[in-house]
Amino acid sequence: MTSLVKGLDDGEVNSSGDFFAARMRVQQNFFGRTVIMELLKKRVLDLKEGYRQNVALFGNRYIGKTTILQHFLANLDEEITVLYIDVENKDFRFFLDQFVGTLLHHYSFSRKLPLYEDVALLLESVQESIPHTVSVIRKIYKDYHAKKLSTSFHGLLALPEIFTNETGRVCVLVLDEFHRLEEVTVPGAFAYLGKKIMTQKKCLYVVTSSSPQQAQKILSEKLSLLFGNFEMIPVDPLDPQTSREFIEETLQGIRIKEPLRDFLVDFTGGYPLYLQLVCKELAGLSVLHDQDEIFIPVLTQAIENTIFNRWGLISRHFELMVQELAAGKGNQIIPALLMCLANDKHKADDLCAELGFKRNQVAGKINRLREEGVIFKNGNFYYFRDKLLKYWIKYIFQPRLKNVGIGPEQHRELFQQEFQSCIENFKVTSTKDLPLRVMELLYCFDNEAFDLNGRKYKLPLFREILPWKISNEQGQSLNVIKALTNEDVWLIAVKGENVSEAEVSALLEESRKDAPKPRRHLIISLKTLDENTRLKALQERCWIWNEEEINTLLTLFNKPYISR
Ligand SMILES: Nc1ncnc2c1ncn2[C@@H]1O[C@H](COP(=O)(O)OP(=O)(O)O)[C@@H](O)[C@H]1O
Ligand SMILES: [Mg+2]
Repeated sequence: MTSLVKGLDDGEVNSSGDFFAARMRVQQNFFGRTVIMELLKKRVLDLKEGYRQNVALFGNRYIGKTTILQHFLANLDEEITVLYIDVENKDFRFFLDQFVGTLLHHYSFSRKLPLYEDVALLLESVQESIPHTVSVIRKIYKDYHAKKLSTSFHGLLALPEIFTNETGRVCVLVLDEFHRLEEVTVPGAFAYLGKKIMTQKKCLYVVTSSSPQQAQKILSEKLSLLFGNFEMIPVDPLDPQTSREFIEETLQGIRIKEPLRDFLVDFTGGYPLYLQLVCKELAGLSVLHDQDEIFIPVLTQAIENTIFNRWGLISRHFELMVQELAAGKGNQIIPALLMCLANDKHKADDLCAELGFKRNQVAGKINRLREEGVIFKNGNFYYFRDKLLKYWIKYIFQPRLKNVGIGPEQHRELFQQEFQSCIENFKVTSTKDLPLRVMELLYCFDNEAFDLNGRKYKLPLFREILPWKISNEQGQSLNVIKALTNEDVWLIAVKGENVSEAEVSALLEESRKDAPKPRRHLIISLKTLDENTRLKALQERCWIWNEEEINTLLTLFNKPYISR
C-alpha cells in the first residue's frame, strides 16, 4: 500500500474507514420524522441558493438521530458532497480517515470513479481530477505522521473550502455526537471549528448530540459566535400514530389487536429502539409458537425475554446505563435516587426526605441525571420521559435489589402478574371517554406550574370538577367541563376532533352569562385547531392544549397517553 500513497511519510493509511456509511447503509424500515426530514431537505435547497443555516439535532441516546442522518444523506442528490463523521468513541486517526474517506468516496461516486474502501487508493484515483485537494490531503497526513496534530486538524477543517473551490460543489459536513470532538482530536478544537464554520459558507454543518446540556454549553460558550447560527432541532420519541405503523409493519403480517398494539405504543413510549427490539422478539416468538396473532401470553413472554431477563437486550442496556451512572465517587446514591423518582417522588424536598440526604447532595446528583438525559425537569417536577426505563427501575431493578428473600422463579411470577395487571389497567383507562380522562387528569393538579410546549401554566388545585352542557343563542350546544377552585372557575371544552369557531363562541358566551368570578377558558383538542378558530381563541385569551401538551401532563402524572 505504501507505494500507492506517494507523499505520505510512512504511507500507512487505514483501510477500515466505512465510507459507505453515509450513502449506503440505510435502515430498511424508516418511520416518521417527516418534519425533520423536510427541514433538512429545505436547508440543503437553501444552501444551493447561497443561504446557509446550520442544524443541530438533539435527543436521548438511541432516539434515532443517526437513523435520521442516514436517511437524509442517502437521499441527497449527487451534486452535494457529504462528509459524515461519527465522533463517538473514536480516535484522531479514525476522525482523519473518515473525514477524508467520505469526502473522496462521495466525489468518486458522483464522478463514477472506482469506489475504494481505502483512503490511499481513493487518493490515487482522484489525483487527476482534483490535484489541489489531493495535495492538501497529503500534507494533512504528513503533519499527522509528524505528530503535528493541531496543524493536521486545522488542515482537515479547511478541506471543505479547498474542495469546494476546486470543484464548485457544496458540502454537507455531519458531525455525529459532536460534543466529543475535543476528546477525539486536539485541545481547542471547538474554537477552531467555530472559526471555520463562520468562514466556510458553502458548507452546511449538521451536528448531533445525545448530551443536550453539554452540547448546548459548547454551542453557546465555545462556538459562541455561532450559537445563533445553529437551528436547534429536538429529536423526540415517535408519535403514537407513527409508533402504531412501526409495530404493524415490523410485525409483517402477524396480527395484533388495537388494545394490545396501543398498549405497546404506550409501554415503549414511542422509543424506536424499544419498539424495534420488542417487535423482533414478538415476531420470533410467533414463528416459534406457530401463531399468526399476538395475544397477552406471547406479549408477556416477549417483554420477559427482552426486559425482565438479565441478559435480555433492553434489560442489559438499562443495567449498563445504571452501572455507568453509579460509577465514580459519590455516585452510589444514584440507584436509590432513581428508585425514588420511579416511585413518583417528583420534588426535590420529597426526594431528600425519602433518601435522608441533604438538599445539595441530591441536587448535584439530579443535575448529573439531567445532564445524561435520564431525568427531565418541568416546573418543580423531576421525572422520567422514558417510560420503559421508569418501568424497569420500578418493577424489575428495584424488586431485584429489595426482595432478597425470594428466588428467581418467584420474581418471574411476580413480574408476570404485575405486567398483566399493567395491561389490564391500560385497557380500562384507554376505553374511558376523553372528557372523563381529562377530568381525572385535572384532579391531579396541585398548584404547580408547568411548562407545556414552551408556555408556562399555573395549574390550580380544583375543589370541584363537573361535566357541563352549554348552549348558545344559535342553539349550538357543547359538552364542557366546569372546574372550580376557591377563587375562580375554569370552563374547558374537550374534543378529540376539531373544535369549531362557533363552539369557541359558545364557550365564551356561557362565560359571560353569570357569576362575578374570573374565568379561565381552556380548549383541549387532540387535533390542531383550524387557523381561524385558533386565532379567535387566542384573541379571547383562551388557552389551547393539543395532543402534545396533554401527553406531557399525562406523563408527568403517570397516566397513559391519549391518542387520536
Ligand atoms: N425512524 C426510525 N425508524 C425505524 N427505526 C428507527 C428509527 N429511528 C431509530 N430507529 C431504531 O433505533 C435504533 C437506534 O437509533 P439511532 O439512530 O442509532 O439513535 P441515536 O443516533 O439517536 O443514538 C436504530 O438502530 C433503529 O433500529
Ligand atoms: Mg447515533
